[in-house]
Amino acid sequence: MSLAWHTHHDLSGANTLGLPCVAERFVAPATPAELAEVLVDAREAGWPVTVLGGGSNLILGDWLPGLVVRPALGDYRCEALDDQRVRVHVEAGMNWHELVMSLARRGLWGIENLALIPGQCGAAPIQNIGAYGVELADVLERVHLMHLADGREQVLEAADCGFGYRDSIFKRALDGRVVITRLELDLSTRAQPRLGYGDLANRVGPAPTALEVAEAVCALRQEKLPDPAVLANAGSFFKNPLVEADVARVLLERHPDMPHFSQPDGRVKLAAGWLIDQCGLKGSREGAFGVHDRQALVLVHHGGGDAEGLLGFAGSIAMRVAERFGVTLEREPRLVGITE
Ligand code: EPU
Repeated sequence: MSLAWHTHHDLSGANTLGLPCVAERFVAPATPAELAEVLVDAREAGWPVTVLGGGSNLILGDWLPGLVVRPALGDYRCEALDDQRVRVHVEAGMNWHELVMSLARRGLWGIENLALIPGQCGAAPIQNIGAYGVELADVLERVHLMHLADGREQVLEAADCGFGYRDSIFKRALDGRVVITRLELDLSTRAQPRLGYGDLANRVGPAPTALEVAEAVCALRQEKLPDPAVLANAGSFFKNPLVEADVARVLLERHPDMPHFSQPDGRVKLAAGWLIDQCGLKGSREGAFGVHDRQALVLVHHGGGDAEGLLGFAGSIAMRVAERFGVTLEREPRLVGITE
């Protein structure tokens, strides 16, 4: 079947914030060969290329010129490395949550705490997705990618991906330059439940299976986080801020109940959701946008708004937090086709 090219393609349903966006051209290659071919066409025509995944961590401007590519390569396979370790090769277009549940059902350990995170596997390394005490970087071995400028393929070792908290080389030096095509993850057949975060441990029995942990994580997330299919959102809108120890000390004197997490580098991570909540903004609404009523870290789009309106709303929240606590909030989703 030949590849379907769409012009003036509506992407409002292809970003979980439901922001209005039109792509000049759109294509969803389903094989590495198709992807390479599409990139050659784009280079020859001089079109700028934007790569989309599940659109769950993006703020899209209203017009994307050139070509928007969404890899639809969506399969995975397992390779036994020894009697405990299993290497998982997964294509970029596979839905992340489906991968998590499928591997948990097979009794493989490593990413069960990352259940129900929206988006495609290829997007997972970009912000080093993390939840409930686990980050992608804990299990990721390699990232396969293709350079947009010349179609060159490259395999990056995890150690070279610059992973940090919600951060990687793909948000920095390689931003807008590559398309991720495949990941390699190392999982384990040996039970290794990580239940230290929140009340996860209370939600499973003493010797849970990977699937039971994944299901408990799903239940926890469903209690707090809005389903983008029902209420448009991009998950956490701000990163949890890292502050110097003496800043945290002063804040804790004034707010002894403030959640805080000491980091190995001596800094202290604060809970952005708590800071926003303390400003009385949880559940607030201004026109098309609002602060979710169960998790203040999530901004929601009630409909009829655009990227500019969202950035204005987010800016006013960050300003309230800065005024009250002297802490700067940094946005988590990436801007695509729009500048601040
Ligand atoms: N809190 C409040 N009010 C709120 C929200 C949070 O007081 O409205 C307090 C909580 O009571 C808790 C602390 O803030 O003491 C932390 O809250 P929570 O455990 O809900 O997690 P989070 O720090 O707000 C982070 C991730 C989430 C991830 C959860 C669980 C970031 C930016 N967010 O949220 O990731 O699911 O931990 O691990 O790191 C995402 O990235 O889209 C996302 C949902």
